[in-house]
Amino acid sequence: MLSGTKLDGVALVVGAGAGIGRESAFSLAEAGARVVVFADMNEETAKSSSIESKQFATNTEYQTATFTMNVKDAKGVQDMVDFVVREFGRLDYCVNAAGVDNGVHRPLSETDIDSFDNIMYTNARGMLLCTRAQVAAMQKQDPRSFTSRSGTRDIGRGAIVNVCSANSFAGLPGKGSYTISKHACMAVTKMAGIDHTAEGIRCNAVCPAWVRTPLLDVELERNPEIRAMISAVSPLKRAAEGEEVADTIAYLLSPSATYISGSSVMIDAAITTTLRLF
Ligand SMILES: NC(=O)c1ccc[n+]([C@@H]2O[C@H](COP(=O)([O-])OP(=O)(O)OC[C@H]3O[C@@H](n4cnc5c(N)ncnc54)[C@H](O)[C@@H]3O)[C@@H](O)[C@H]2O)c1
Repeated sequence: MLSGTKLDGVALVVGAGAGIGRESAFSLAEAGARVVVFADMNEETAKSSSIESKQFATNTEYQTATFTMNVKDAKGVQDMVDFVVREFGRLDYCVNAAGVDNGVHRPLSETDIDSFDNIMYTNARGMLLCTRAQVAAMQKQDPRSFTSRSGTRDIGRGAIVNVCSANSFAGLPGKGSYTISKHACMAVTKMAGIDHTAEGIRCNAVCPAWVRTPLLDVELERNPEIRAMISAVSPLKRAAEGEEVADTIAYLLSPSATYISGSSVMIDAAITTTLRLF
């Protein structure tokens, strides 16, 4: 393992009860985080995931906790960040993975505005609330340094990774509301990078296409056409494993990535680099 990819600080993962958030929290524990806080609106899955993380943790002082919140609630988001700083002293790494997909495919002309409002409220506004509160907490703490083969450097006050989507850059026919919300999530990430990198706070995005989560597995079981579509458009003929996204997140939060900010990593096996899918 590169020494720069090792973590040792306090992590907060929002949406850690399932899917990409849960896998990310496990990767941060495996990469050496001293604390991982599992935040989710689902108290039960946050608790079971938090307990499960202990088997992957490599830091001998590993501690884990949970926090029940909803990214739609500004006070709940602030309380979550205050909880982490109060209980564990600082906030080094954040992952914002809570998000929803409105499911239905409809052309833009048939956009349901209630559904649009809901998805924007959760995905875009929710990501802004989380990033805003996390940056504000990081601004108040001292920067840390890291010593490697090229000497000692300032690695800043903290780092954030927002889970965006391949739809943060490319549209999917009939997925207007989701695509618009994910473009906005990327804008939150870029603006945090623009406004706060000079303060030693980095913010980046991961942009996956399809990721194998329990939810996608159910969908693939129910609708074999989706499996055939993924196989047709992905050069790797499969969805990404959750771990393939989670480990990239751990890297982006680590000292190895301290010159990366306001940026994004597309995790799509080159799907979005083509002008035509067939
Ligand atoms: N799975 C994929 O194929 C895929 C691909 C690209 C992008 N994404 C994005 O990744 C993110 C996570 O997706 P996933 O597939 O892991 O989803 P998931 O449904 O498996 O997990 C999401 C977690 O977030 C929590 N959550 C949802 N809404 C919340 C809210 N309002 N407040 C607090 N917690 C909330 C859920 O309880 C759940 O534990 C989403 O933003 C999604 O758009 C997923």
